[in-house]
Amino acid sequence: MRSGARLARAVPVIAAGAVAMLLWLGSCPGMNAQRAEAQTSGGDDLRPVYANAQDVAEGKRLAETTCAKCHGVSGISTVAGVPHLAGQRAAYLYRELRAYQSGARGNDIMNGTVTFLSTDALTNVAAYYASLDPAQPAPGNEAPAGPDPVLAGKTAAAGCAGCHGEAGISKTPGIPNLIGQDPKYLVGTMTAYKTGQRKNDIMKTMLAALGDSDLSHMALYYGLQKPARAQTPSAGDQAAGQAAAAACAGCHGGQGVSGNPATPSLAGQDAQYIVAALKGYKDGSRGDATMKGLAATLNDTVIKDLAAFYSAQTPQAPNVRKPLSTAEWVQRCDRCHGTNGNSTDPRLPALAGQRVEYLEKVLHAYKNGTRRSSEMAAMSDGLTDTDVSDLAAYYAHQKPRAVVYVTVPPR
Ligand code: HEC
Ligand code: HEC
Ligand code: HEC
Ligand code: HEC
Repeated sequence: MRSGARLARAVPVIAAGAVAMLLWLGSCPGMNAQRAEAQTSGGDDLRPVYANAQDVAEGKRLAETTCAKCHGVSGISTVAGVPHLAGQRAAYLYRELRAYQSGARGNDIMNGTVTFLSTDALTNVAAYYASLDPAQPAPGNEAPAGPDPVLAGKTAAAGCAGCHGEAGISKTPGIPNLIGQDPKYLVGTMTAYKTGQRKNDIMKTMLAALGDSDLSHMALYYGLQKPARAQTPSAGDQAAGQAAAAACAGCHGGQGVSGNPATPSLAGQDAQYIVAALKGYKDGSRGDATMKGLAATLNDTVIKDLAAFYSAQTPQAPNVRKPLSTAEWVQRCDRCHGTNGNSTDPRLPALAGQRVEYLEKVLHAYKNGTRRSSEMAAMSDGLTDTDVSDLAAYYAHQKPRAVVYVTVPPR
């Protein structure tokens, strides 16, 4: 491979497209020597990159007899859950086939299919599939723009401002602030209203028509607002309240800022609401075993003092980050998987144009650890179910590009 001229003459170019693979091969001094070396050394993963035309033809025969019934003629699958293989990167296919063979990647169908295939057969079939033109995504099917969850939360919460105040800062005595709370607490307590586990007719009605994603979007929206004290009055003795609050600090924090997502913060909360909550725990109208025991010992004066103390404290933003949008995730994924999921590294899979339900399935498998990969475990960890479906839809609709797949001259 010393000159471009020789490359053009001696090496059949099987699939057209970008030139990444070509350039990559262009840096290799001697193909056959490299393949021999690849076969005997740790560079084994790259074997199918050094396939010649005869190897590819043998791969084709195996594909037609053994793989086509699931992966489709020409490696384009029409079966849910079965990935397209056409145009997939050669070294990646080969490595996955070996992973199925060793059991490192578990799948009953594929484990059984490859058990008795030789290393050469796996090399050849990987080279064959890599050489094919990839499936094209259905035309006119643009990837859906994933909704911005914070904006969705703001929209869903539009009807709450009348009571809870703009951005969740209450101006009405008896109505709680919603800012400064961990979203997990807000979701939990809203769910409790919906199921009737926490009894309040107004809130039950307000939330009745909202689904789980509305609740989490609203909780996220409130979690990201700048906290401020409720703009409501309080009566009571703050200093006495502070002394009484020593018994509460272990859970609610010394200054009423809780570090535990299951425990609400009290700092800056409306005083009248705090009073009502504590009386509710005391008389059992608000059910919570922990708080019932604690509130039982408090008389009306202490309750008022506690409310005065907590309502005067400064609320803090809970530990929430704005989640990444699909576009922001894609930037991260593309660092390894190539622009729009068109990998230029033969060891990394292309994602562009892959079947959507297959992409969803494997992303969940990385997340729950049933498919093992240190890179993908780290990357998929932070993905919500919505992120998974948005990313799968995004990549399934990208235009896949074949790498120029070249074979080496016959040995
Ligand atoms: C009976 C159906 C069936 C047959 C036959 C079959 N496959 Fe598969 N193949 C599957 C399914 C289902 C998956 C997805 C498995 C998973 O999620 O791990 C898969 C996955 C794969 C993958 C992983 C692709 C990726 O993107 O990670 C490769 C490579 C593969 N098959 C190659 C082959 C080859 C080569 C043959 C023939 C020797 C073959 N398969 C025969 C059903 C089949
Ligand atoms: C008509 C007035 C009203 C409206 C509108 C309203 N709420 Fe409420 N909300 C209340 C009252 C009153 C309480 C206190 C109920 C109790 O004591 O359990 C409350 C309590 C809550 C709590 C519990 C706070 C805590 O610290 O435990 C959450 C969360 C909440 N509301 C969310 C919402 C959301 C989200 C909306 C809009 C979808 C909404 N509310 C609309 C009156 C209202
Ligand atoms: C062992 C931990 C623990 C201790 C100690 C504790 N709390 Fe709580 N508190 C909780 C939990 C958990 C909740 C949420 C219960 C629920 O879902 O209704 C809560 C809820 C509350 C609420 C309702 C807040 C809201 O937004 O609706 C108030 C008010 C409150 N506690 C005050 C106190 C006071 C005052 C003390 C001290 C006398 C105290 N708590 C001690 C765990 C604790
Ligand atoms: C640090 C590099 C890296 C990053 C960043 C990365 N991946 Fe991967 N990805 C890999 C590797 C390596 C594999 C092959 C792992 C294996 O063998 O199972 C892979 C495999 C996959 C597969 C399986 C493909 C198939 O055909 O089965 C999917 C789907 C995937 N990645 C999606 C993503 C998404 C979505 C992101 C962004 C959220 C992402 N990846 C970010 C390195 C990366």
